[in-house]
Amino acid sequence: MKSILITGGAGFIGSHLVRLFVNKYPNYKIINLDKLTYAGNLANLKDIEDKPNYEFVKADIVDEDTIMAIFDAYRFDGVIHLAAESHVDRSISNPKEFIMTNIVGTVNLLNAARSIWKDDFNGKKFYHISTDEVYGSLGDEGKFLETTPYDPRSPYSASKASSDHLVRAYNHTFGLPVVISNCSNNYGPFQFPEKLIPLCINNIRHGRPLPVYGSGTNVRDWLYVEDHAKAIDLIFHEGKMGDTYNIGGSNEWANLDLVKKLCEIMDHKMGKHPGTSEQLITFVKDRAGHDFRYAIDSSKLQNELGWKPEVKFAEGFEKTVEWYLSNKAWLDDVTTGNYTKYYEGMYKNR
Ligand code: NAD
Ligand code: TYD
Repeated sequence: MKSILITGGAGFIGSHLVRLFVNKYPNYKIINLDKLTYAGNLANLKDIEDKPNYEFVKADIVDEDTIMAIFDAYRFDGVIHLAAESHVDRSISNPKEFIMTNIVGTVNLLNAARSIWKDDFNGKKFYHISTDEVYGSLGDEGKFLETTPYDPRSPYSASKASSDHLVRAYNHTFGLPVVISNCSNNYGPFQFPEKLIPLCINNIRHGRPLPVYGSGTNVRDWLYVEDHAKAIDLIFHEGKMGDTYNIGGSNEWANLDLVKKLCEIMDHKMGKHPGTSEQLITFVKDRAGHDFRYAIDSSKLQNELGWKPEVKFAEGFEKTVEWYLSNKAWLDDVTTGNYTKYYEGMYKNR
């Protein structure tokens, strides 16, 4: 039985990946290592937590000794590293946390992998999950390719860029078998409601203002989270060692248009007059250093490994809204802080 470490598995994308791997690969033991920060929520994994091939380990990747001891004990065959501080706005108010988790935490994992694998890398893989934000900001034209020079412009993207460089350096210097992917903005169930889409869904529910930064013309390329998880599965198993793959939805939306579309769907689903929710849109002070546009060219992944996004945006967006509306308790728990008690209740006797 292969043992696979997934870090950050209690977060948004990590929980979808853990669910996919636990269900699809009964012959893998999936160890989900997560610190359970404000963004980590074990309730995201309720449906698979009792499966025999799943185990949760609460740990902080910044804690070098603990990470080394865990690698020593479990002797992982593969690592898929998602644990990170992930919200740009938080990185602007508290950059240091991002340096610690995203850079130092990643180095701790690289060192631990080197230490247990020694120089025997046969069948081993260290897969680092990153973001398109490392490439900087686009104007109206063009898309990010794997060869686009790095130009991170927020503390978040700078910390992710730094971790990408370190992962590549460990491949080049020590021969560590690594692969990296850089993905565009994800949307879907279980996303923490500090990010644009779930934040607006929750605010519409409560009739609160929808804060649109600046004039709402900034553009993001949105991908349904399960399509990202499937891309990770493919790259983990078939990606070329040492390579980088861009993952994106080819689905660009200006923020204001996206929020208006969301208002339209919410009005319909909540039985409100068309135009009701749009009245909540409020233009607020722009994010400092706000990147104008992200757009991914994922043709390498499509041509070399045969991936393509399966979920059309109209379908995925509607499914996402429906999920939050039928899981109001989840939204209420994460916005009131109740979810932090889940770990205690669920794991204190294990
Ligand atoms: P998230 O914030 O929802 O989840 C992050 C998880 O990491 C949480 O469960 C948290 O508890 C855990 N974590 C944080 N610090 C930790 C630490 N020190 N030790 C152990 N665990 C820790 O993030 P997400 O949106 O699911 O993103 C996951 C990964 O994907 C990140 O690396 C992010 O950079 C990358 N990514 C995200 C997006 C996106 O749109 N969300 C797009 C591209 C890439
Ligand atoms: P976000 O979901 O934070 O993702 P990222 O910054 O990683 O792209 O934001 C998506 C876009 O929405 C980004 O251009 C910032 C903007 N935004 C708002 O206009 N209002 C908000 O309240 C938030 C959270 C984001």
